[in-house]
Amino acid sequence: MNYKNDFPMLNKDIVYFDNGATTLKPKCVIDSICDYYSNYSSNAHRGDYKISLKVNEAYEGVRNKIKEFINARRNDEIVFTSGSTDSLNMIVYGYFKYKLKENDEVLVTKSEHASNILPWYELSNEKKIKVNYIPLTENHTVTLDNVIKSITDKTKVISIAHITNVIGDIRPIKEIVEYAHNKGILVVVDGAQSVGHTKVDVQDLDIDFLAFSAHKMLGPTGVGVLYGKYNLLNEVIPTKFGGGMNISFTSKDMIEYKELPYRLEAGTQNIAGVIGFGSAIDYINKIGIDNIEETCDTLKEYIIKELKKIPHIKVYNENVEGSIVTFNVKDVFAQDTAIYLDKYNICVRSGSHCAKKLEDELGIKNTCRVSIYFYNTKEDADKLINALKNENILVESLGV
Ligand code: ALA
Repeated sequence: MNYKNDFPMLNKDIVYFDNGATTLKPKCVIDSICDYYSNYSSNAHRGDYKISLKVNEAYEGVRNKIKEFINARRNDEIVFTSGSTDSLNMIVYGYFKYKLKENDEVLVTKSEHASNILPWYELSNEKKIKVNYIPLTENHTVTLDNVIKSITDKTKVISIAHITNVIGDIRPIKEIVEYAHNKGILVVVDGAQSVGHTKVDVQDLDIDFLAFSAHKMLGPTGVGVLYGKYNLLNEVIPTKFGGGMNISFTSKDMIEYKELPYRLEAGTQNIAGVIGFGSAIDYINKIGIDNIEETCDTLKEYIIKELKKIPHIKVYNENVEGSIVTFNVKDVFAQDTAIYLDKYNICVRSGSHCAKKLEDELGIKNTCRVSIYFYNTKEDADKLINALKNENILVESLGV
């Protein structure tokens, strides 16, 4: 099945393999945003006129769609944020800041995105907690055994990506959560690269907190979700205060805040973004998450198989399950490879991909990353592979 016609960006002569950074948007998502701005533009939860009520309905309808999509228990377990980074910061600064004590330990890995390391580093300076790393296997993956070995009686939280953005490994979240909960440890999951790529069922996985972004799953930028089990989320202290989240305030000692989820949604929210996110979820549901996963997987296998035949290419993650291929061309700086591929209108990301501690594991700082989504085709892959067969990439990228 070819989905390209649904994506205005793909009417252009480009091969887009930077889906880990952000996915493209189908026309239905763009149209739903235009429709909101053109036909019922108003604020949510503040007006008593018809179009405002329509916005309330649309906004809360998307909350319900997300609840269904990740199988949360209730709508008020879904908080709209500006994205995964915002969600993770809210968890660290609105919850764990008040729960962790000096010398408590947080477990992360060296392949986490900056959004799942820097808030913990900052908190560790403030609260004198320790950030420890779960050792990775030689394939840079996480195993339950390695998690078990890293846990001490001071470990209070494990904060890990479901799928990492450079290696693309899928972590055994369900097993990790089960083990952690038996030890009284909470588990925070960064779902930025997984929700929209594979089935994420928060009840089945028993995740405590989950963060994800709309723009990595066909939705607009600037909107995301913080999911939390109700009892935990209900203890999150707002990190933003203002309109929409309070019931009344008569003096600084007489403030009453709203219930979840509104207490954690201060200020006018990204209403257009939320509406677009709803259309993205409808579109994903129509295609089917299993179909998406299988399509990406098949293409990833093909790209890895073909790249491995090229002697001057080194692939760093050939044994993992996600839809990411990370590689370098021998003796060529990753950014030069990306610039060379851009000459053929092939978009890949190069650099450290915001996962700067991964260098300790990979032994190299910069790589090229091909990140696949279901609208990529074998023709896209062949253009990439043919371009990479050229041994003179360095010379051509520098234009000398
Ligand atoms: N987190 C995004 C990426 O992996 C930006 O490229």
